[in-house]
This record gives sequence, C-alpha cells and structure tokens, in this order.
Amino acid sequence: MSATLVHVPVLLQEVLEWLPVPPGGRVLDLTLGLGGHAEALLAQADSSVRYLGVDRDPQARQRAQERLGRDGRLTILAGAHESIWTDPLFQAWRHLQAPDGFDAILLDLGVSTLHLKDPSRGFSFSASGPLDMRMDPDHGPTALEWIAEQSEETLADALYQFGEERASRPIARAILRALAEGRLATTQDLASAVYEVIPREPAKRKGLSDPATRTFQAIRIAVNGELVGLPAVLEQAVMALKPGGRLAVISFHSLEDRIVKQTLRRLAGLHDGPGRMPPHPLPQHLRLLRPGGLAPSADEIRINPPSRSARLRLGERLASQVAP
Ligand SMILES: C[S@@+](CC[C@H](N)C(=O)[O-])C[C@H]1O[C@@H](n2cnc3c(N)ncnc32)[C@H](O)[C@@H]1O
Repeated sequence: MSATLVHVPVLLQEVLEWLPVPPGGRVLDLTLGLGGHAEALLAQADSSVRYLGVDRDPQARQRAQERLGRDGRLTILAGAHESIWTDPLFQAWRHLQAPDGFDAILLDLGVSTLHLKDPSRGFSFSASGPLDMRMDPDHGPTALEWIAEQSEETLADALYQFGEERASRPIARAILRALAEGRLATTQDLASAVYEVIPREPAKRKGLSDPATRTFQAIRIAVNGELVGLPAVLEQAVMALKPGGRLAVISFHSLEDRIVKQTLRRLAGLHDGPGRMPPHPLPQHLRLLRPGGLAPSADEIRINPPSRSARLRLGERLASQVAP
C-alpha cells in the first residue's frame, strides 16, 4: 500500500455547505474512508463537536487514524453501516455523546482510491491482483470464491442487476469457462474473460469506458452486499437524526442513486407508485433538500474525473408526522 495514496473527497464544498456542524454538534460518518470529508468538516467545527467515524475496512481506518487520530473530537469504530446500529461500542458512544440524536450524518458510498489503486485488494483491472474485492478482508468470500459458487444464471443475473450489463449471459458463460479451465485467478484474467465477449480495442477507439467496468462493478457490489441493506441503513440514519439534523448521501452510480432517491422520497412521505395514492398517508420523517440531488461542478470533474458520476442527496429530519 503506497504511503502517499490519497482519496480526493467528492462534492466536498457541497457537503460543507449543506451539512453544517453546529457548535457542540454530533456527527456520524458511516463511511469514514481515509477521513477526507471528516478532516474538512472538523476543520470548520468547534472544540465541543464530537465526530464518530465508522468504516468496515481496516486499512482505511488505519489511514484515517494516522491522519486525524490526534484530534480528540474524533472516535473511529470498526463496522459495517448496516450492522453498526446494534454494536455495543456504537450504542455506548451514542448513549453518552448523542443521546438526543445526531446533527449530521454522512454516507459517502462505494469504494475509495485505497481500494482502486492498491492491486493487492483486487478491485481494479488496470493492474494485476488477486480476485479479492472485499472491503473487509477479514470477512466473507473473495470475488473468486463468490464466482465459484455461482451458476451461469445467477452470475448473469448479478452482472445484469448490479452492472446493468446487457451482455450478461455470454460474459457469465465466458467467466465460468475460464474458471473451469483454470484461467481465472487475477483481476486481469477476469477482464480477459469479458474481452472474449466484448473486445477491448473497439470500445477504446470509440472513447467508451472499458468493457470490463460493468462486470467489475457488479461483482464488487455482490461480494460486498453493497445494495442489499441500503434502504434500511438510510432509514436507521434518518431516525438517528435529531429534528433539524441533516443527512447527506453521496452515491456513485445510477443504481445506487435510484435506491437513495426512492428511499429518501418514501421517508419524506412521498408516494412513488404509478398514479394512485397509497391507501394510507406515509409518515413524513424528512424534508428533502435540493430534491433533484447535486452533481459535481465542471471544475470538480476536470480536477477529479472519477467524481463525474457522483450525486449528493440531502434531507433534513422533521419531528415525525403523517403527510397531509
Ligand atoms: C468513498 S469512500 C469514503 C471516503 C471518505 N468520505 C473520504 O473522504 O476519505 C467509502 C468508504 O466506505 C467504506 N464502506 C463501504 N461500504 C461500507 C459499509 N457497508 N460499512 C462501512 N463502511 C463501508 C469503504 O471501506 C470506504 O472506505
């Protein structure tokens, strides 16, 4: 792991503007990562603020600790945001430090530069690495083990559902063929299996994204169970805010953003069904801020091109009520 690796926090100015930390505020950062957003939010906050940062990745926590560990306002906890709510250490912190709820909660979803730039983590096809892709390397099957458990049908379904890959079935067949023939051990082997179906060079010539991108995204999402618990996490987060407290969620692809948007709309008491009103009014826990979401500015995309697909969605906690 390179000692100089940095992760440029995405939509940082927008987060600072829309997620203000009041004096004495309590902040929950459910995807601390390398602490980029945390550092900037803490820089604006007073000495009585308390900031709880959670991440499932031990390397990310270590980096954040090295970067910010001297700041006595920050506590770093190991855990996944879908299960942290019942963790005794989390509950103790919350009970002592934030009994009335949080003023600000941040979720910056997905992977960090640490994952993408370190070949040994197996997230990227730009350098060869083991087919791992786990954000928490101590838990769950590696990407290779996960693939080995799939049938052609379940693998194709995952590629289609999590990667929006239209050639999901022939790619699934090519991946499982490579596995059966002992040709699937590294990230580049996985990419080669995809290129058997969608050759790389024509896509490159047309300036399209690498054909392996969608397959890598899909397998990473499946291996880490990234979308499974997301609605429940967002609901827990909204309920953990104090009235007037704000939730900010950054997503990186349309699939994730759709889940965030629909869940926040539901928590805001809005009905997304076709035409008819729901039989009962939905409880309204949240007021949507900037309902269309915020995208990075042209300047940010120029300086940090990977930010181009990011979306920030925001809500402010209401004292719960039923929508009229
Ligand atoms: C995009 S990065 C966050 C970057 C951070 N905001 C910064 O500026 O440095 C996302 C982080 O969330 C972590 N993560 C992803 N899914 C998680 C989950 N279910 N629970 C906890 N952490 C998770 C990843 O390990 C990664 O470090």
